[in-house]
This record gives sequence, structure tokens and C-alpha cells, in this order.
Amino acid sequence: MIARDLIKGSVAVIGVGAVGSIITYALNEADIKPVLIHRNARVAELYREHGVKVEIPSEGERIIEGLHTTYDSIQPGSIGLAFICVKAYNVRNVLSKLPRLLNKDSILVMCQNGLGSTELAEKIVGPNNVLQAIIGFGANRVSRHEVRLTGIGPSYVGPKCKGVPSTLHAVAKHVSELLRVINFIYVDESEGYRWVKLGINAGINPVTAILGVKNGVVSDDAYARSVALAAANEVKEVAIAKGVFLPKDPANALLSVARNTAENYSSMLQDVRSGRRTEVDYINGSVYLEGLKVGRACLVNYTLWNIVKSLERIRSRSMTR
Ligand SMILES: NC(=O)c1ccc[n+]([C@@H]2O[C@H](COP(=O)([O-])OP(=O)(O)OC[C@H]3O[C@@H](n4cnc5c(N)ncnc54)[C@H](OP(=O)(O)O)[C@@H]3O)[C@@H](O)[C@H]2O)c1
Repeated sequence: MIARDLIKGSVAVIGVGAVGSIITYALNEADIKPVLIHRNARVAELYREHGVKVEIPSEGERIIEGLHTTYDSIQPGSIGLAFICVKAYNVRNVLSKLPRLLNKDSILVMCQNGLGSTELAEKIVGPNNVLQAIIGFGANRVSRHEVRLTGIGPSYVGPKCKGVPSTLHAVAKHVSELLRVINFIYVDESEGYRWVKLGINAGINPVTAILGVKNGVVSDDAYARSVALAAANEVKEVAIAKGVFLPKDPANALLSVARNTAENYSSMLQDVRSGRRTEVDYINGSVYLEGLKVGRACLVNYTLWNIVKSLERIRSRSMTR
């Protein structure tokens, strides 16, 4: 079978923010103009009018191309492959709107950091129709219609675990080829990669958000480093207790990401500063809750979770005054 025939319908990107725009850029490079689904007609119209400019370090500026539309305007059952690129706390809402648009062969690619999104998607379409993308690039929204790619590390795409039909593996390989320009790599089991990324995020994100510092402080300052590494080591313990095979040590991976992104501000810090909700519930919160299920008290993650929740609340109150 020709690879593109594996996808039974159109390619869609849901959530045209930082990640969704970069994925759309890569799809455009592979000659695909995806359906870009916005939350409502007003937002879709704004995007049609202004477009989205992506800034790619070696390439310069590009306008991403696709059909800006809404859930209501799409033909039932017509989406074959959907990249879900909203924040973790918006996934439930997106999934509630999708069943009408999907068919029995539709595949969802979940792009969120943290835990929970894949599991929600599996409940809607079943585990044989869900892929995980563990995003290794960094992207920021410079403005509503402008996204900057800040760095490219390897991203991984594959089924959560082995033991799914070979067609799902074939689609994952095809997705990695479509997104090759942004360094996507197919893996036959993505769960370990998700937990390594969870370890990195569980350490760097809350520590930088609480201290209000760039990522480099996590590798350079002994106190910040010890808290971040303790959080990553708890993630490792829970993963091992759950039987997840880790392709890398999360603490070592955290240190190298902190060094390589030393000048960056983490997304959690940016969210706290802007008074937006963070994804801490899906990162440190879910590590703590998963830990309880396997008899591990992840108290570093519990503490970081609660401090960031408190910061979120204080900050959003001060912004609404
Ligand atoms: N950015 C990165 O470098 C990066 C790296 C690794 C992983 N990730 C993960 O990728 C996910 C997305 O992050 P992001 O940085 O791309 O976030 P983002 O820039 O905020 O983009 C999310 C987009 O989803 C839209 N949206 C929200 N609810 C929607 C709905 N119901 N239907 C359609 N669109 C909806 C948002 O619109 P509004 O703006 O109107 O709310 C926004 O455009 C997160 O889970 C994050 O952890 C991000």
C-alpha cells in the first residue's frame, strides 16, 4: 500500500498555536495543506484574514497554508489523521467534538506534555487509533498570528505500547516521514519517551516558574538543581514501578536540556507570568497521583504541584484586579 493511502481522510491540525503552527509548516513542506480547526467561526475568520507567520531559524519567515475552519463546517467522518495540538486542559473539550468528524480508521496524534491526554483519546477512539508525539522542538507565540521556532531536538512519534496493529505502526512511520523537516523519528513504543520528557518537565518547569529564572539556572545553581533532579528521580521511580522502559535516564536528560536551553524561559514560567493556567496538573500533579497508584509518595512533585497552583491563583487574581 502507498504510505499516504494509510490515511483514510483529510489531515487536520487542531489547536493552531505554537506547536500546531510548526506542525503545519512541516506538513506544508511535505506538500500537505491540512484542515486547521479553530474553536469558533470568529477565530477561524481572524486566521483566514491574518494567516499565521512562522519564523524558522535557517529558513526565515513563512505563512502556513491550510483550510482555516471550525468543527461545524467539516463533513462528518472526513478526518483521517488529526494532530491534537491544544494544551492538555483543552483536550477533553476537543475530544468531545471529534466523534462526528472521525471514521473507524481515523488516527489521533496527541502532542501534549505530561500525562492524561493519550488516555482520554484512547477512551474516545480506542488504543489502536492513537499515536503519541513527544515534542522535542521548542516554539513560542510571538503574537497571536506569529510563531517562532526556538530550537529543534528530536521528536518521537509512535504508538504508546507495542502490540497494536501493524497499520498503526505504518501510520506512525508515515507521520515521521511527513514531519522529517522538524526531526520527527518513528519509535515502535513511545511510552518511555513520554516518561523521560515528563521527568524533564517535572523538574525544569516548576523550578523555573517558582524562581522566575531561565532554564540554565537549573543546571548552574546547586539548590535549584537538587530540587529539579529530585523531581525527575521520582518520575523515574514511578515509571520503573509501572514497568515503563525508559530509553534515557530522566535526570541526565533534564540536565542536558537545561544546559541546551539555558537562555530560554520555560512555558510554565511564561504561563505564570501571563496569568494563564499552567499544565502543572498534568505534569507534577499526575506524577504524584500515578505514584500513589504504585505505592510511591512523590513528595517533591506534590510540593512543586501545590506551589505552582498557588502561584497560578495569586497571579491570575492580581491580573484581574
Ligand atoms: N510550545 C512548545 O514548544 C511545546 C513543546 C513541547 C510540547 N508542547 C505541548 O504542546 C501542547 C500545545 O502547546 P502550545 O505551546 O502549542 O500551546 P498554544 O500556543 O497555547 O496553542 C494551543 C492552541 O490551541 C487553541 N485551542 C484551545 N482550545 C481549542 C479548541 N477547543 N479547539 C481548537 N483550538 C483550541 C488555542 O487557541 P487560543 O489561543 O484561542 O486559546 C491555541 O491556539 C501543550 O500540551 C504543550 O505542553 C509545547
